[in-house]
Amino acid sequence: MIQLQDLFFQKFISKAEVKGAVNDVSLKINKDYKEKSPVFLIVLNGAFFFGADIIKKFDGTCEMSFVKVTSYEGTESKGAVSTVMGLDTTLKNRDVIIVEDIVDSGNTIEAILKMLKQEQVKSCKIATMFYKPLAFKKNYLIDYVGMEIENDFIVGYGLDYNELGRNLSGIYKLKPRKMKNIVLFGPPGAGKGTQAEYLKLKYNLVHISTGDVFRYNIKNETELGILAKSYMDNGDLVPDEVTIEMLKAEVEKNNDAQGFIFDGFPRTHSQASALDSFLAEKGEGINGMIALEVDENLLVERLLKRGETSGRADDQDESKIRNRFNEYKTKTAVLKVYYEDQNKYFGIQGVGSIEEVTERLCKVIDNL
Ligand code: IMP
Ligand code: MG
Repeated sequence: MIQLQDLFFQKFISKAEVKGAVNDVSLKINKDYKEKSPVFLIVLNGAFFFGADIIKKFDGTCEMSFVKVTSYEGTESKGAVSTVMGLDTTLKNRDVIIVEDIVDSGNTIEAILKMLKQEQVKSCKIATMFYKPLAFKKNYLIDYVGMEIENDFIVGYGLDYNELGRNLSGIYKLKPRKMKNIVLFGPPGAGKGTQAEYLKLKYNLVHISTGDVFRYNIKNETELGILAKSYMDNGDLVPDEVTIEMLKAEVEKNNDAQGFIFDGFPRTHSQASALDSFLAEKGEGINGMIALEVDENLLVERLLKRGETSGRADDQDESKIRNRFNEYKTKTAVLKVYYEDQNKYFGIQGVGSIEEVTERLCKVIDNL
């Protein structure tokens, strides 16, 4: 298994199989273009290897040219194809072979065919190393195919995930994540606990409330609990490593879970990256941080009301409540940036009925 940025890929097609498929395509092209002097039009960047290998194996005379287009962002096609580098030479009356790394929806080749329409080429054929017939939605024929694959996202032999993985000589395919891991955030009084209870049932997730984990470990005098308590008794903050170890133990206890809701954790940048590397060891990761965004004044009002009926001392003093908010805001600000940088931050409006908020949460989670 290999890791590229946030994703994991497993071995799929060997270097030898790729080589064999390239050979087969080459033989066919050599046969079909025996008496011709074709122009190989290589679609950058991905088809750079495939194009080079085919041209090296071409027996007759030939030329090469390049175009560069993009349609993919991450592991998804954007639909629209944009030309980064167009034709720099005329192809009038030439026998053109478009060389592509992979044909998926077919949008990219369609855009190139459009580009060639004005060129009055003599003939035009398409060669691709990989082809996803289940994704292909166009009418044109693909003349030479190295290998057909299912709708997996692959890297290697020129193909990339965010520009990475092109240099791999074998092909690796995206390893599907089994878990849905969510970091749930919300200021005190936003109804996070209620929502977590519901979400854990709906998505069959394990809810890890850091407060509960601490209390459990201390009460049961586990090794980590005793260690954590020794810091607390001295009035020191429990070091990140201890907190992380406790959470790890909690995750290990639920090894076949479909995912986790992390609640009250991570709180710091270093906890967030420790959580990432811990999950990465399992081939998993955080799918998203969801934060309930609530107007502060409204929450203060809500909490004061709660204090009147519950008698909770910390809910009766406005300045204490505001202090908790400020603490919350400073802490989440760092994490917001951390997850935003990975496109994993989702803020949702936390004001409304419980059902309304649940609905907003589910909308985000369903799309993760
Ligand atoms: P299409 O335009 O949907 O046919 O997609 C073709 C282009 O998308 C290729 O040139 C690649 O750049 C990219 N692409 C499609 N599928 C994959 C994949 O599985 N791995 C990496 N890139 C891909
Ligand atoms: Mg490409």
